[in-house]
Amino acid sequence: SVLSGGGGNPGDGSADAWRAHVRSYVDASRRSRLGIPILYGTDAVHGHNNVIDATIFPHNIAMGATRDADLVRAVARASALETAATGARWSFAPCLAVPQDPRWGRTYEGFSQDPSLVATLGAAAVQGWHGDDLPATGVLACAKHYVGEGATVWGSAGGHRHPWIDWWDGWGADWQIDQGDVVIDEDELRRVHLRPFTAAVRAGALTVMACYCSWHGRRVHAHRYLLTDVLKGELGFDGFVVSDWMAIDQLHPDHATAVARALAAGVDMVMVPFDHRRFVATVVELVEQEHLPVERIDDAVARILRVKARIGLLDGRVDGRAEVRDEPPVPVEVVGCEEHRTLARTAVSASTVVLTDDGVLPIPDDATLLAVGEAIDDIGIGCGGWTISWEGAAGAVTTGRTILDGLRSRPGGVVAYDPHGAVGDVRADVGVVTIHELPYVEGGGDRADLSVPPDQIDVVARIRDRVDRLVVVVISGRPLLLGAVLEHADALVAGWLPGSQADGIADVLLGRVSCTGRLPVRWPRTEAQVSGSPTGSDDGDEAPPPLPVGHGLDLAPAAGPPDRPSPA
Ligand code: GLC
Repeated sequence: SVLSGGGGNPGDGSADAWRAHVRSYVDASRRSRLGIPILYGTDAVHGHNNVIDATIFPHNIAMGATRDADLVRAVARASALETAATGARWSFAPCLAVPQDPRWGRTYEGFSQDPSLVATLGAAAVQGWHGDDLPATGVLACAKHYVGEGATVWGSAGGHRHPWIDWWDGWGADWQIDQGDVVIDEDELRRVHLRPFTAAVRAGALTVMACYCSWHGRRVHAHRYLLTDVLKGELGFDGFVVSDWMAIDQLHPDHATAVARALAAGVDMVMVPFDHRRFVATVVELVEQEHLPVERIDDAVARILRVKARIGLLDGRVDGRAEVRDEPPVPVEVVGCEEHRTLARTAVSASTVVLTDDGVLPIPDDATLLAVGEAIDDIGIGCGGWTISWEGAAGAVTTGRTILDGLRSRPGGVVAYDPHGAVGDVRADVGVVTIHELPYVEGGGDRADLSVPPDQIDVVARIRDRVDRLVVVVISGRPLLLGAVLEHADALVAGWLPGSQADGIADVLLGRVSCTGRLPVRWPRTEAQVSGSPTGSDDGDEAPPPLPVGHGLDLAPAAGPPDRPSPA
């Protein structure tokens, strides 16, 4: 298999460049000794998000707020078609994390803190990726990261502090919780974190990615009980386990020892980004020196071949000769098509959660409107991490529509807009102000302090004095500690990381569609509640309790155009 890691985009990053790039690898593999085609994998985790002009859907935390399995399935199906259109037939999605501590930089990759919701939506995502005809237009899903990553403990991140790994001048040394240690007992591990994987296997998942994290100090990539006895034995998983990126190098300073431990534990395919020749030579040596039974290699290879056969990659082979390789099963015009963008806009509206509202929503058509905030007209901030590049970035990183685009399409448009609130002495009936997090990914998003930065609170306070009613929209990958924002806002809305069609948030604010989003994670209101258990308040009765999972106010659409049809 060959992968494009986050940001590993070919050529100009267009769908055509991807299509040509993937085809060149597949065709070369067809000409190899056995002619078995490679499986091309990529992190299409919220649409085919590495590809310029592809539809970028809301990240999983937003999809969790919809609580809508049919919608999650439809979004995965659309993502699969855009991925297959570029020739890639394997996506490293869905992430089935059940995030416990919002300080974790991968919180937004999880659907929810409710394991049963993660199980339901994760199974729907697998079904969407595979579709009704896996060999025809299916893309292999990858249930990840197995198992327990959402429960790592703050300060335990060991993933990037291995003295024998030169992580590019100490890069990642400041990570705090990502890839850390899980210290819960087996009952909680099974009840909360294994449950989504059981559902994904039942839904037909054929690949599972192991988790960097460790359980009571033992890395999952070397954990035979979890990878073989539980996943393959108890759950009956007959696909293959893929390692995470360079994860086996964390198992031991001696490469051969690390490889032996991972393969013996049950890893079947190893993600080796830099030196695959050394890896292959090491495996051959381990078998020849009888440190690794060849039966383990046969089992791993058989699993991989079975999966390739199930997705049709071995079809059309006659006497070892592959028929001429046809084009990918989906036309490239599907990438970023209007139908998918409309679906994304619907998903954005369905994921929007109204946390508080003093009667200002929906914003009347005849109200004058002020629009402020760096995120209100910034696609890159709205897409977050895993978008075009690994970390993502602010700015016009790809095409789409912003919240401001949506607000400007109302009858009176907006009377003024400025990203930093420099609107002179303009006044308006209503102000819409966004606060936000800049894009981040993995441990790079591990943050001790989730408070809204003071400069953003200053903008909110400044606009407060210029409008009669103030709506604050939070564009973030997780709950933030809102502080003084709570006093200024007449309505507070969680927009999460909406992706390329953020005008779906404006649709809710303007009453074009109903709002039914619900919190997929608890929203802490004090520092002490941030790392507390997801069920209770952890600082006595004096503080307002966190907003619980399931919180959200309904908004009926204003009189006027009916709700857009939900995706069947
Ligand atoms: C990353 C992530 C994983 C991703 C893989 C390939 O480090 O942990 O989610 O699928 O590497 O990019």
